[in-house]
Amino acid sequence: MSALLEVRSLSKSFGGLQAVKDLSFDVSEGEIVALIGPNGAGKTTVFALLSGFLEPDAGEIALRGRSIVGLKPHAICALGLARTFQIVRPFPHLSVLRNVMVGALARHPEPREAAARAEAVLVEVGLEARRAQAASGLTLAERKRLELARALATEPAVLLLDEVMAGLNAAETERIVELVLGINRRGVAIVLIEHVMRAVMSLSRRIVVINYGERIAEGVPDAVANDPRVIEAYLGDTAEG
Ligand SMILES: Nc1ncnc2c1ncn2[C@@H]1O[C@H](COP(=O)(O)OP(=O)(O)O)[C@@H](O)[C@H]1O
Ligand SMILES: [Mg+2]
Repeated sequence: MSALLEVRSLSKSFGGLQAVKDLSFDVSEGEIVALIGPNGAGKTTVFALLSGFLEPDAGEIALRGRSIVGLKPHAICALGLARTFQIVRPFPHLSVLRNVMVGALARHPEPREAAARAEAVLVEVGLEARRAQAASGLTLAERKRLELARALATEPAVLLLDEVMAGLNAAETERIVELVLGINRRGVAIVLIEHVMRAVMSLSRRIVVINYGERIAEGVPDAVANDPRVIEAYLGDTAEG
């Protein structure tokens, strides 16, 4: 049986900089996989490639056995792959509910259905009390949950989460961990870019480590944490975020 998401020999350069190099990994149905690596390793670029915001120079990406390379983001989203953005980008002047409706409309063109779906997602992420407020008035923790809600409202089979815990305190982080586990329990496969190692270790069954765009390790959390190449890559990474 083929994996839900298959990534094969993916490469992407920006001018002379090769941000992603011959990268391959799989994500199975219902799995949580973490994609980690030092700053500038190419993680966000991988998400941009998977979600159609960037086109790869080479390589293949298949969702349920079907190539999605060259498809536009909305088409990839319709096939069941959604992402959040590391730099959250809600429509600031729209209400929280409207922001989530934008995601829900991808699945439910009928506005009333989209609104109902958006309301349900707001309850799931704990933002229902903020539904009428402009997105610009939310705290960082709330904006992170809104970003998650917007992606979730598209009813993905695979959800790509780019640092949804960055900048949050311990309690807020714990809340997101619980939320991610709940989403996964409903059968959504998750690829997680995260610097909060405690969360990575507790959430993921498998970790893919990249450095300078290349996979340097892959395996269960314990093995990866003790891999000398991984330790070395992180020792050179002093910056935060
Ligand atoms: N649109 C772009 N144009 C040029 N360089 C980029 C662009 N996006 C990312 N990069 C560069 O590619 C490398 C990988 O970036 P990124 O994927 O954001 O890394 P990460 O998410 O792992 O921190 C970095 O050196 C970054 O500066
Ligand atoms: Mg990034």
